[in-house]
Amino acid sequence: MRVIIVKSYEDIGKEAAKIVKDLIIKKPNAVLGLATGSTPISLYKELIRIHKEEGLDFSKVITFNLDEYYGLSGGHPQSYRYFMDENLFNGINIKKENTHVPDGTIPIDKIEEYCKKYEEMIKQAGGIDLQILGIGGDGHIAFNEPGSSIYSRTRLVALDEQTIKDNSRFFEKIEDVPRFALTMGVGTILEAKEIILLANGIKKAEVVAKAIEGPITSQITASALQLHPKVTAILDEEAASKLKRKKYYKFAHQAEEKINLRIF
Ligand code: F6R
Repeated sequence: MRVIIVKSYEDIGKEAAKIVKDLIIKKPNAVLGLATGSTPISLYKELIRIHKEEGLDFSKVITFNLDEYYGLSGGHPQSYRYFMDENLFNGINIKKENTHVPDGTIPIDKIEEYCKKYEEMIKQAGGIDLQILGIGGDGHIAFNEPGSSIYSRTRLVALDEQTIKDNSRFFEKIEDVPRFALTMGVGTILEAKEIILLANGIKKAEVVAKAIEGPITSQITASALQLHPKVTAILDEEAASKLKRKKYYKFAHQAEEKINLRIF
């Protein structure tokens, strides 16, 4: 895994945006996999800036979001569809019909069929070129909680107590946090051609070290990213603080900058 350690949360957004921008310039109809939560906000702000100031064109870009709370419609202010509209889509020239967020209102007896269709749509679009990920306090990627198989696919899942607690900061009270979600599986995520994992803050330090340097285990689903050939972790100093090979990662990144080539 390629690891880039930057000074601040804003720098995470800038570094990740460079990768997104290079891809869209190379492939204007790129397929992006997107995450919600606090972590990617600095990336989305930077993408909006690049669109407005440098004219980066999103008109052919297609997006698929990782997950959605089950039971919330897209108009609910805590839904992930709402989040994406507010934090990215409304600020760029993407076509709304090219953006996909799982539908949290699908009736229970239609869920299996719907999840299969979501995966089909990703395939029909040509697969995800670049997947953006955050990491949960329990090591989850998307809503793949501890115990999710490395082969798991898009499905309905029960949220872990820690996730419900962590995400209650966005709701009025903890009882309002949905208990279930639709999520891409770890297997679905690993099919992306390239992945960026973002993390900031001291609260993520321990789990980031486990995911990047620990054994591959379904108890930390982000550790499955070690199986993927093209993952870049972009971390601030705090999130990187528990990594054992910090010096090496810094050296490798400096070397990359010198020779102007990405090393995986
Ligand atoms: C959100 C998602 C989650 C978050 C994770 C970290 O779409 O898939 O896995 O990336 O819970 O959330 P934040 O960024 O709020 O710490």
